[in-house]
Amino acid sequence: MTATSPTQKADQRHVWHPFTQMQEYWAQPPLVIASGRGGWLTDTTGREYLDGNASIWTNVHGHNDPDLNAALQRQIGRVAHATMLGLTHEPGAMLAAELAGLAPEGLGRVFFSDNGAGAVEIALKMSFQYWQLAGKSEKRGVIGLAGGYHGDTFGTMAVGDSGFFHERFRAWGFPADHFPAPFCSEWAGVVRSADISVSLLALEALLIEKADRIACLILEPSVQGAAGMRLQPPGFVRAVADLCRKHDVHLILDEVFVAFGRLGSMFVCTEEGVTPDFLCLAKGLTGGYLPLAATLAREKIFTAFLGTYESGRAFFHGHTFTGNPLAAAVALENIRKLRELIDAGTLKKRAACFGLLLAAAFIGHPHVAELRQRGLTAAIDLIPAGGGAYPVAARAGLQVCLKARGHGLLLRPLGDSLLLVPPLCLSEVELGELVGRTARAIDDVLPTFQYHA
Ligand SMILES: Cc1ncc(COP(=O)(O)O)c(C=O)c1O
Repeated sequence: MTATSPTQKADQRHVWHPFTQMQEYWAQPPLVIASGRGGWLTDTTGREYLDGNASIWTNVHGHNDPDLNAALQRQIGRVAHATMLGLTHEPGAMLAAELAGLAPEGLGRVFFSDNGAGAVEIALKMSFQYWQLAGKSEKRGVIGLAGGYHGDTFGTMAVGDSGFFHERFRAWGFPADHFPAPFCSEWAGVVRSADISVSLLALEALLIEKADRIACLILEPSVQGAAGMRLQPPGFVRAVADLCRKHDVHLILDEVFVAFGRLGSMFVCTEEGVTPDFLCLAKGLTGGYLPLAATLAREKIFTAFLGTYESGRAFFHGHTFTGNPLAAAVALENIRKLRELIDAGTLKKRAACFGLLLAAAFIGHPHVAELRQRGLTAAIDLIPAGGGAYPVAARAGLQVCLKARGHGLLLRPLGDSLLLVPPLCLSEVELGELVGRTARAIDDVLPTFQYHA
């Protein structure tokens, strides 16, 4: 490790990076990003990298987008921040109206926060309080899907099922039930095999046993991102929604990852014909520019919170930067541009191209156990040629990602899975670069990879 620039030295001396084993991080000189344009990031030495994980799954129209920049500049000349605690402002109110207009009918109330975990915590708290207000305070439990990830705060860890990430904090969480995830193998727009019956039977049994004590069920619809892009077959979300409705349990859809064009549409729930009780949004909401999140709630739930101050029915929750005007102004412009892309079918076309490129590179590859792809998101599970698995300590996925950097591509591994989540603005040629550079990194590292089983 040689840190030479003041930034690198300050980073090594003082920054504690998220989701990072710092001892491992220090083995390389810190990569310092200086600027970005489109789907590319440039470091302080002038080297360019394709942003293969869309800066943690957020980027939509690219870095340094002139329209988003202009929206930000217009708003910064007016006011950078004004609280929404008891006041309002134009970008916040107009964004709330925009989101309500895009969401399924009935999801008319928008509560802002500033990150995905916050959006989920808010939905959970709203559901818990609703049942208290409805005189059913025994409805306190939560059901989640096996492998679910909803963030790293205590409530989201409790309802998630991210094993390795969260296990050590279990003792501080509230209990939650989990039902098995469905199975779905898909790439290039074709479901290769799928099964939802085991999952739905288990859910129905859970609901028959406990629904009178369950407040809500939370689900990442269509794709469980942090579980390694685990896919659900079409129709699964609808079936879960029907069971929730039948058993009087709120449905929270966590679309923090999948919304805003990632799967080709604005929201997955509208594609699936499902109206959840709560819809959680973040990541792509501002096109990857600024932290902003939203929890949409049904009007019927909102009205249950109305009453006099002393009735104590108000929802006592908020964050300092709730509905920040800069972020809201950028989000409005992001949505305007995204709508054009969706309406023109551009994202669906790019996703189809991405799927074909991935299939050509990785189906039948000796070091790829499985490819999962839907929309502009994919996972590639790496294995030794001949099968089995790499020992955890070998860090095979990380070694491939470090090699990819040498080929001008930024990726983050999840164990020995490579997660490809490009900015939605990548052209078909750039998608080809993304897939080609990933394949080169795998082929450079794995055939001669030294590890001890
Ligand atoms: C589905 C889902 N929900 C919630 C979160 C948490 O979002 P944040 O990191 O903004 O708290 C994530 C983050 O990856 C996510 O993928």
